[in-house]
Amino acid sequence: MSPHNNASRVKTGAADNGYEAWLRYGLLPEQIRDGYASWCSQLVIAERSVVMESVRKELVRGLSSMLGRKPRVSDKPGRNGTILAGTFECAQVAAFIGGTEIPEALPEDGFVIRTVDNGPKSRCIVLASPTDKGVLYAAFHLLRLIGTGQDLHALSVVERPRNRLRMINQWDNMDGSIERGYAGRSIFYRNGKFIRDKSRFRDYARMLASVGVNAIAINNVNVNNAETKLIAPELLPSVANVADIFRAYGIKVYLSINFASPIQIGALPTADPLDSGVRRWWAERAEDIYRRIPDFGGFLVKADSEFRPGPFTYGRNHADGANMLAEALEPFGGIVVWRCFVYNCQQDWRDRSTDRARAAYDHFTPLDGTFRDNVILQIKNGPMDFQVREPVSPLFGGLRRTNTLLELQITQEYTGQQRHLCYLVPQWKEIVDLDTYAAGEGTTVSKIVDGSVFGRPYGGFAAVSNIGDDANWCGHVLAQANLYGFGRLAWNPELATKQITDEWVKLAFGNDPEVAAAIGRMLLSSWEIYESYTAPLGVGWMVNPGHHYGPNVDGYEYSMWGTYHFADCHGIGVDRTVATGTGFAGQYHDIPAARYESLETCPDELLLFFHHVPYTHRLHSGKTVIQHIYDSHFEGVERVEELKRTWESLRSRIDEGRFTHVLGRLEEQVEHAKEWRDMINTYFYRKSGIPDERSRRIYS
Ligand code: GCU
Repeated sequence: MSPHNNASRVKTGAADNGYEAWLRYGLLPEQIRDGYASWCSQLVIAERSVVMESVRKELVRGLSSMLGRKPRVSDKPGRNGTILAGTFECAQVAAFIGGTEIPEALPEDGFVIRTVDNGPKSRCIVLASPTDKGVLYAAFHLLRLIGTGQDLHALSVVERPRNRLRMINQWDNMDGSIERGYAGRSIFYRNGKFIRDKSRFRDYARMLASVGVNAIAINNVNVNNAETKLIAPELLPSVANVADIFRAYGIKVYLSINFASPIQIGALPTADPLDSGVRRWWAERAEDIYRRIPDFGGFLVKADSEFRPGPFTYGRNHADGANMLAEALEPFGGIVVWRCFVYNCQQDWRDRSTDRARAAYDHFTPLDGTFRDNVILQIKNGPMDFQVREPVSPLFGGLRRTNTLLELQITQEYTGQQRHLCYLVPQWKEIVDLDTYAAGEGTTVSKIVDGSVFGRPYGGFAAVSNIGDDANWCGHVLAQANLYGFGRLAWNPELATKQITDEWVKLAFGNDPEVAAAIGRMLLSSWEIYESYTAPLGVGWMVNPGHHYGPNVDGYEYSMWGTYHFADCHGIGVDRTVATGTGFAGQYHDIPAARYESLETCPDELLLFFHHVPYTHRLHSGKTVIQHIYDSHFEGVERVEELKRTWESLRSRIDEGRFTHVLGRLEEQVEHAKEWRDMINTYFYRKSGIPDERSRRIYS
């Protein structure tokens, strides 16, 4: 069987609400089905466990749906065309692949897939791993290979996740709302309770496991009164139910906790992390949690950040706070994920010496080496807050003796709120590949967070989810690609953007090469397009305060949030140099520090993040700053119109449900991009008085 690429798996004409996302397993064309079926007629699940039960269900479901016939489930291989799934412990697996072939040092989630072809009557595909979780990942991998039309004849796959922790953060509240959620209400909670119908919990677990996610924090990092009680006896049984569902898909449940819990639900007079009563209280809570949920993941903590309580109240530092919780969880193997999003959110805009961008580094580097081994610091990708363009946080290169977790935002708070198409994998790829030079050349962010450079025991990726109870989960069908891409990158940050994109498009829309190419192009250009019509050259913000949707150039200019652009009639940008500015550029290691410090070497796309320049300053591109602003905003709108035309060209090749939905989103994007264009262009024309070289229409 050879890789096929000439037929669509999507039934055109039929309405599809997008619920199945990339697990839709559309029926493959007949000529291809037979080839695959000869490998997949029987399924042998060699062991029993809840996860193995998921392996069986997923393989039966995926294969039946793609191949149009159900595999026979049996206990023993023996029939031609068997898929054999089990751990290395299992004698049947060992018999098929032989002990010598098992790769050494395969981590618990790693797996192998081998084709064993002993003649036309004895063909077998073996899915094997040290653990049942790894077998589940192997099963999803095999389904992905079939769904994307790969050849199964000579499989010799060895996969090792690069990151130990691959985590999703839900910003869901128990009243059913989702902080920064753009896809409906929570699938977990309604009116202060867990939703009784758990089918979406299970379907979400399937989606996450299929891309290798192994941890989920099920409540918002801003923990309100209701969610504070999630660690209390009254709500723990419900949490345990959720953990049962996610466990079957190899995913550990975590809870975001309120640092002031000992006061709020423990009736103690203090939450001081060095107080012995407080420490005892947390130890007892941990014991109770693990009695009910033996594989509970641990706590996620937002402390001393945006009005949340934390150790500062008691004159203690963040290591004191995190270590207290870590000590309580340690006997049970739990971990503390402690966020570094700590800054002064009551700044005075008149004060030019305080720079929010410096805050995380300034707070946490002095504490390097003082955190317990089961603490991981979760660091946002940039020093500000998930803008469309920011430099990478210098904290990644700043910590050597501390576990770190890269925090990304899948939910599109500042990148179009799932109304605009903005595929974030290209942005994330730039982040993980950035060289911090922390231990010489080649110390990329991904090698820091996976723990390999500094020999840390834990590390990985976390991201804020983009799902809600919308039928298609993400509010925008094409935004599903961001959730998919996050999981794939967290598994292996070296995967090429193109491969991830290709996989998702084929799994979601079938193998019609023209459809795949067109949607791939749309996705791959969308981040750049979004950037071009919003805040220019890395300066960020310029959004409406509060909800953060739509343009408002001065929306945050005189606020207390530390997010300024300093535009006047001469120029724009924030001077963050060591020589004349806030000194932020000096938080990087020598080579990147020098690159950002100098106007000659600072990359155009970050110019206004690091420098305040006149509108007439010439970029490396040869354009002046003002002309770049005009050009990129005019082009941005034209390119969104082009996205819409591309989508329209697919009308007859995509099911009506998803086609119409995405078209509606793109129509809205065209209109809203115009609003951005006109507001930004007019603002800078009025400020600078400099006309567009090409005399296009700018409203005065
Ligand atoms: C942003 C976001 C908040 C969120 C915060 C965080 O500021 O707007 O809603 O709570 O990030 O990451 O904690």
